[in-house]
Amino acid sequence: MDLPILQDQYRRPMRALRISVTDQCNLRCGYCMPEESYTWLPRSRILRYGQITELVRAATDLGVTKVRLTGGEPLLRKELWRLVEQLAAIDAIQDLALTTNGVLLKEHGADIFSAGLQRLTVSLDTLRPERFKELTRRGDLSRVLTGLQVAQGLCPTPIKINCVAMKGVNDDELESMLDWALTEGFELRFIEYMDVAGATAWSNAQVLPREEILDRIAKTFGAPTPAPKDGAAPADRFHIEGRGSFGVIASTSSPFCGTCDRVRLTADGTLYTCLYSEEGTDLGTAIRAGHTREQLAQQLAAIWTQRKDRGAEERLALADERGILATASHLRTRPGWEMHTKGG
Ligand code: GTP
Ligand code: 5AD
Ligand code: SF4
Repeated sequence: MDLPILQDQYRRPMRALRISVTDQCNLRCGYCMPEESYTWLPRSRILRYGQITELVRAATDLGVTKVRLTGGEPLLRKELWRLVEQLAAIDAIQDLALTTNGVLLKEHGADIFSAGLQRLTVSLDTLRPERFKELTRRGDLSRVLTGLQVAQGLCPTPIKINCVAMKGVNDDELESMLDWALTEGFELRFIEYMDVAGATAWSNAQVLPREEILDRIAKTFGAPTPAPKDGAAPADRFHIEGRGSFGVIASTSSPFCGTCDRVRLTADGTLYTCLYSEEGTDLGTAIRAGHTREQLAQQLAAIWTQRKDRGAEERLALADERGILATASHLRTRPGWEMHTKGG
């Protein structure tokens, strides 16, 4: 028997579950983790793979068909392939993806893809080794590039690259990064710098808006033509004749809350119904206590039907008043709010 479609207060269905498997990261990108120290989630509260899988089963009962694993850096989690294998075995999951910084792909590419991972997105903001080290405050670009090569031989679908385009930081590489991605067969997505929690160095002046990105690309590659959008996914896609496709995620200048079907689970089991929300709902306690799939589905449904979030639209409405979302000291008391804990 088909269940009635679950909808939130703006009639949005719940289709995509983004699971952060750890808040730890092996890089320190300035737009995500600019601080020197963080309040980490208590180790004792981190969900085990079987517990995550039970929650995913409950979510599929309410209409979720897409799952994305995120972090922090998800490949830091021990034997992540075991979770991938459990999730790949759930029939209702039609799309199983991972977002990673790519540093550990060489080591773990083979095990996650043989476990059933279907799609891969790698975050990469520069192709210059020195700049990479500077922007990530510790990273080695060659590891990411090697990891990408390894993954390309294994990933059943085209790999996506997420590039946060920032004025005065990496905007001199728009054309060279796109040329590289088109040549290598990656779908590059330029992401506008977002004022999410954790981005304590954010300023509107550093946002490179979609229209400027597209103007720059048109000058070098010729006018890109719009390509079909991927369901409710955030990227606007474009095609360059004879070369391939790329995307722009214009969350800051042109939010897409109206079609947002995403829900986020942190590694300790807190559920957030918006990337911007400060408050989540603790499901971890129920999950760890062994609540059944039906009980968890009921709790999820109760949260989703009350949902009224449109965080990015509310931020846009602030216009000139728009500054950082939260100070570092405020964030220290709210470790689930930050981008690296929510998983982007
Ligand atoms: P695809 O299905 O592959 O298109 O996945 P995706 O684009 O949802 O996944 P990814 O993790 O690569 O997301 C790319 C970036 O888009 C994120 O890092 C965020 O910056 C932004 N983004 C994703 N989901 C949301 C969302 O719900 N709200 C906002 N404001 N931004 C989002
Ligand atoms: N603005 C835009 N994108 C961000 N990400 C993290 N912080 C920000 C921000 N402030 C993106 C990264 C990565 C994804 C997980 O989140 O580029 O691709
Ligand atoms: Fe969804 Fe919130 Fe992002 Fe809007 S800001 S698209 S409601 S997660």
